[in-house]
Amino acid sequence: MKASLRFAVLTDIHLTDSAEFNRERLALDSVRLFEEARADAEGRGPDFLFYTGDLFEARHWGLPHLALARRILEKTRPPWFVLMGNHDARYKTTRDAYDGADFVRAFAGHGPTDSRPYWSHEVPESPFVFLGLHTARNFTSGGGVDREQLAWLQAELKRFADRYVVVMMHHPAVVFDPVLESVPELSIYYLENHAEVRELLVGHRCVKLALSGHNHTRRHAEIAGLHFVGCPSINSWPNMYAAFQISAKKISFDFHQIRDQAKVREAYAGVVHPESTWLKGFKDGAAVAAYFSAGPAIRELAPRR
Ligand SMILES: [Fe+2]
Ligand SMILES: [Fe+2]
Repeated sequence: MKASLRFAVLTDIHLTDSAEFNRERLALDSVRLFEEARADAEGRGPDFLFYTGDLFEARHWGLPHLALARRILEKTRPPWFVLMGNHDARYKTTRDAYDGADFVRAFAGHGPTDSRPYWSHEVPESPFVFLGLHTARNFTSGGGVDREQLAWLQAELKRFADRYVVVMMHHPAVVFDPVLESVPELSIYYLENHAEVRELLVGHRCVKLALSGHNHTRRHAEIAGLHFVGCPSINSWPNMYAAFQISAKKISFDFHQIRDQAKVREAYAGVVHPESTWLKGFKDGAAVAAYFSAGPAIRELAPRR
């Protein structure tokens, strides 16, 4: 019986080979930085790697970027799982026939199965179960969990009532920062039906940890003993991935920065740049920097019973 697990979450890797410049994301360096971060993460001996959405960029061309992501992710050594993010969903500006069904087919066996993008994975000979939600939708950066998936989630939480469940999603089910609710442009940084999803997760004590990406920030919130952790992106400042170790007694996690410090400095300049998209949501570069600098003070949590 395996009593503890190690895994890494490399979220929002935003792989592309057709970028023209680096700004808030290091698009031109996305492949190299990902491969270096993955090697670093693999060096920690994880049982699993999770890629929790925004794997590539479907804004103009979906199919070639899907093929690129598939080719690169395939080289992952430990078992790995994916979620679809908003950048992996079809845009109004997508110029080829790419659709979510292509994503599900390409990553079948790594979470998505039976033409369904959301999934559960029971770790053999252990109490641990991972659930992957599908929150992305075509033509929007916002996210939600539809009725059919909510019914599935409810049934899965009942089925796994005496297990140790870790839920993963791209868009968070908590509003990590008050500013996200006060600026309309920032409402895409939590699920549309966040209260409903959150109540469902909080209401099932088997759920010990709920992880999200999308916001590219490091965050922690606790509701009724359930820990929500927001994971940072390796592709935007402060260029980090998250590594977890979970057991019945303790959830520990850490954030690891990419090694290329010149690229970290470039990413910082990009996020506070006058043309950074973040300046639509924040009053100035200093406010953006403060938002991305903030992170959890503690890295050891007690799972609820
Ligand atoms: Fe992202
Ligand atoms: Fe996203």
